[in-house]
Amino acid sequence: MIITHDLGKTYGNRAVVDGLDLRVPEGCVYGFLGPNGSGKSTTMKMLLSLVRPTSGEIHIMGRPMRRSTRRELLGHIGSLIESPPAYGHLTGRENMRLVQRLLDLTDNQVTQAVRTVRLRDHLEKKVRDYSLGMKQRLGLAMALAREPRLLILDEPTNGLDPAGIEEIRRLLTKVADDGTTVMVSSHLLGEIDRTATVLGILGNGRMLFQGTRDELFARSVPDVLVDTSEPQRAAALTARWHTSRLDGATVRLSGLDDKATAGVVSLLVHEDIEIHGVRRDSQSLEDVFMDLTEERGL
Ligand SMILES: Nc1ncnc2c1ncn2[C@@H]1O[C@H](COP(=O)(O)OP(=O)(O)OP(=O)(O)O)[C@@H](O)[C@H]1O
Ligand SMILES: [Mg+2]
Repeated sequence: MIITHDLGKTYGNRAVVDGLDLRVPEGCVYGFLGPNGSGKSTTMKMLLSLVRPTSGEIHIMGRPMRRSTRRELLGHIGSLIESPPAYGHLTGRENMRLVQRLLDLTDNQVTQAVRTVRLRDHLEKKVRDYSLGMKQRLGLAMALAREPRLLILDEPTNGLDPAGIEEIRRLLTKVADDGTTVMVSSHLLGEIDRTATVLGILGNGRMLFQGTRDELFARSVPDVLVDTSEPQRAAALTARWHTSRLDGATVRLSGLDDKATAGVVSLLVHEDIEIHGVRRDSQSLEDVFMDLTEERGL
């Protein structure tokens, strides 16, 4: 659905997006992740022709994004960038009517979009009296009404409570099930990891990882936990391999492969430390994400 080649954006002499090769497969929910300032919004704005790339190419739906193709391609894309786009002094219905006229949509398209985001009962209220979650849902209805093939959403869960986040998640899954490709950004992995089928992780404008959750998970090395009667001494002895954390009678060691684990065990035995158990404890996906984004000095 989206392919970019060496996409870049420089402000002054600072590259905020650098050599980006995006691959967003058709029909997926693509989770676009990265810490604050890593370049997510800038990338999405380039995809939507709101920011002009400094370098690189963008292909959407198999066609290059150019001056001559832009209008048509953008006609197939719904988007929600930063704050919800509705007018506060108008009601939800009036806002939807504006979008309908602007995009020349049918009544049915508008009704469907409003139904999808479950706003039917709130349409007569002024948008300034909406909760943040309702505003986000109205913004989504505005993006969905044209029945886009691609939906680009910049942090749609930002600032929502857990129930609101869950609602958006469910909505995105439904939209993708109905055949629309969804690209959604967040700075928090936990907000989209169960919804996204493919992840792209950005750090300092560069792609640190792109692939499925399982592929990301495969990169993690589970921690080694050593139960011992002398955690203090065991931690001191293993500190030079890796950071050890003291946790009751257990020492936690990170990043040890099987060989290194065997080395640690024989060292502890050699030092007459009583070992009660050695086991692996898998990292959470959040840990893998943190390792990945922190490793590069972010
Ligand atoms: N118009 C601009 N002029 C100069 N610098 C900019 C401009 N827009 C963005 N930047 C810089 O580019 C970097 C990336 O910004 P961007 O908004 O794309 O990050 P982000 O990943 O969306 O962050 P956040 O999670 O905070 O939304 C930031 O350091 C920002 O200060
Ligand atoms: Mg942003």
